[in-house]
Amino acid sequence: MTQSIETVVFPVAGLGSRFLPATKAIPKEMLPVVDQPLIQYAVNEAVAAGARRLIFVTGRTKKAIEDHFDMAYELETELAKSHKQALLDCAKSVLPEGVSCAFVRQSQPLGLGHAVLCAKPLVGDRPFGVILPDDLIDAGQQPVMQQLADQFDQTGRSVISVKRVPEDLTQLYGVVDIGDQAGPAAAIHSIVEKPARGQAPSNLAVVGRYLLTPRIFELLETTAPDQRGEIQLTDAIARLLDEQGADSYEFNGQHFDCGSKLGFLQATVEYALKHPELKQGFAEYLTHRGAL
Ligand code: UTP
Repeated sequence: MTQSIETVVFPVAGLGSRFLPATKAIPKEMLPVVDQPLIQYAVNEAVAAGARRLIFVTGRTKKAIEDHFDMAYELETELAKSHKQALLDCAKSVLPEGVSCAFVRQSQPLGLGHAVLCAKPLVGDRPFGVILPDDLIDAGQQPVMQQLADQFDQTGRSVISVKRVPEDLTQLYGVVDIGDQAGPAAAIHSIVEKPARGQAPSNLAVVGRYLLTPRIFELLETTAPDQRGEIQLTDAIARLLDEQGADSYEFNGQHFDCGSKLGFLQATVEYALKHPELKQGFAEYLTHRGAL
């Protein structure tokens, strides 16, 4: 297994305003898809790819994320006393042994780039992964973070996950230009955040997985805020291209944008249809219900 992703950063300090009022007091990342909160899927992906240090960049109302990954002493004692071993295993499984969590506060939501920069003192001078938990990706046995790490091991350059989106949706994403190179990996020529309609250099959209060299921190420190006052990770990556280069990687896996209600519902249906205890009953329900 690769050493390149010992540390993964989870920026979870956003406001989650698209899910209000659900996210007024509860972090978006704690909303469950079937029976696990979004953040758990993200952590499982990082750990499956070999990460041992998990860094959460949190904000106000995000305390539940810390509690989720802490030991639930009373709950575990009760379950042990009443011999509910399966439930006890379930409660303990949120974090495998040997994996550590650290939390750092982003006191104001000044953008994804700023959130990543907040993790600098904890990451140190090594390459690291970034996972946005609301981009849920079902990649089966090969987590996308692992796919990026395998690519990184070949080149030593930063890697950014991308997927093809319909041309009329490119304005919602960061978009990369790779010219006419064939994938899945390609050197990025340029990258732009949320290009105006009709201005996107391609339909290859950035999805929330990055493997970055630590140089990104110095670039973030000197990246100017955009018109909305946010420091964009995309803008720092654009500068990284000039210095070190970076690759895009068209991953294998099904992506759900769980930052939107529609994507969240789609993920819920697909994960329920794969869940060992639910898939049969849920499929029967959908069949009986029929088309609208
Ligand atoms: P989003 O653009 O989805 O923003 O952030 P959001 O605030 O979470 O949600 P909405 O748009 O208000 O509904 C993408 C990722 O970047 C993180 C978010 O937590 C999310 O994982 N982020 C964004 C930060 O950690 N800090 C920020 O200042 C901005």
